[in-house]
Amino acid sequence: MKTSFPVDSFQGIKTPFYYYDVSLLRRTLDAINREAKRYPNFCVHYALKANVNPKLLGIIRTEGLGADCVSGGEIRAALQAGFEPDKIVFAGVGKTDWEINSGLDHGIFCFNVESIPELEVVDELARAKNQIASVALRINPNVGVHTHAHITTGLAENKFGIGMDEMHRVIDRASTMKHIRLVGLHFHIGSQITDMGDFVALCNRINELQEQLYARQLIVDHINVGGGLGVDYRHPDRQPIPDFAAYFATYHKHLKLRPDQTLHFELGRSVVAQCGSLISRVVFIKQGVHKQFMILDAGMSDLIRPALYQALHRIENLSSDQPVETYDVVGPICESSDVFGKAVDLNRSRRGDFIAIRSAGAYGETMASHYNCRELPAGYTSEELI
Ligand code: LLP
Repeated sequence: MKTSFPVDSFQGIKTPFYYYDVSLLRRTLDAINREAKRYPNFCVHYALKANVNPKLLGIIRTEGLGADCVSGGEIRAALQAGFEPDKIVFAGVGKTDWEINSGLDHGIFCFNVESIPELEVVDELARAKNQIASVALRINPNVGVHTHAHITTGLAENKFGIGMDEMHRVIDRASTMKHIRLVGLHFHIGSQITDMGDFVALCNRINELQEQLYARQLIVDHINVGGGLGVDYRHPDRQPIPDFAAYFATYHKHLKLRPDQTLHFELGRSVVAQCGSLISRVVFIKQGVHKQFMILDAGMSDLIRPALYQALHRIENLSSDQPVETYDVVGPICESSDVFGKAVDLNRSRRGDFIAIRSAGAYGETMASHYNCRELPAGYTSEELI
């Protein structure tokens, strides 16, 4: 049984809902700022795709992070939360005209551009507004990472970015465009990466590319290495704050920045994953032929990660300290993949018990859907519930 949750204050709240420990979020942000500020040229953006709950966005913005957006909707959410436009980067393979126009109208810091057709459209739309758009080229570094196949992005087979062979051709093309200013190179190799060696491989690749650019007397203002730092899903309480010291030190040690170049990061999961839990109640305990099922009122519409990526999330009963039994923990949705965990050891559980699905602060609430005509889960912070 976990006691660190304010279970009494959960009593009157409709389940399932997301619960965010803002004290942990603040300590995580403190650690990011402390470790990143060792290196004066490092700038950290928060990747909004991980969680756009306005209460969390407000805290993240107050701590001084910039914003990494992948849609016009995220730009709107970032601006509403008070992020400065000149700290907003805008990435994505399929930016539509209104989204590009929104970035131009608000004067965002940079468009991370992924192809020549996109570059042409940004140039044209900026010309119509008599503006010059700041652009970083997203290069696909063809670096493999040790993570789930669905969340690698930096391989040649992925849809993301401009191939390394193509990079020079795109730079030549950009230099002919009057409404484009090439300010950076952007990379992102994948998500939930815990092996620092993967980031070292990216640094080595960027160093090679920078050498090639240097040979043609080109130095861009900034390098953006995306996000990707992973968290410990198996033991959320062992190291609730990821090792930002090691992460930033890896880049400091291995990436050869040119004088005055800044290094940008787009961290999502490592900022918000551990502060969030999906809180649910047991609807039924059902005896199967060979196992017992714990059926929750939360399902894959509330947290899709286990169904989509076979992701592991630690599950805890917040209401019971009875001896442990083994359950398949499932949701109520009409899909066999609506499973949160198989053969999970939990304190003996009864209908009505509160269950926490941990490490759900990133890509939980943002990926929730109305499937089966279900309501979207609400999100509450620890400050609201005390
Ligand atoms: N920058 C770019 C260009 C990205 O594509 C992503 C994530 C990030 C930054 C932030 O990465 P992070 O620091 O969160 O690893 N829904 C999946 C994760 C998808 C990640 C997509 N891109 C999941 O639930 O695991």
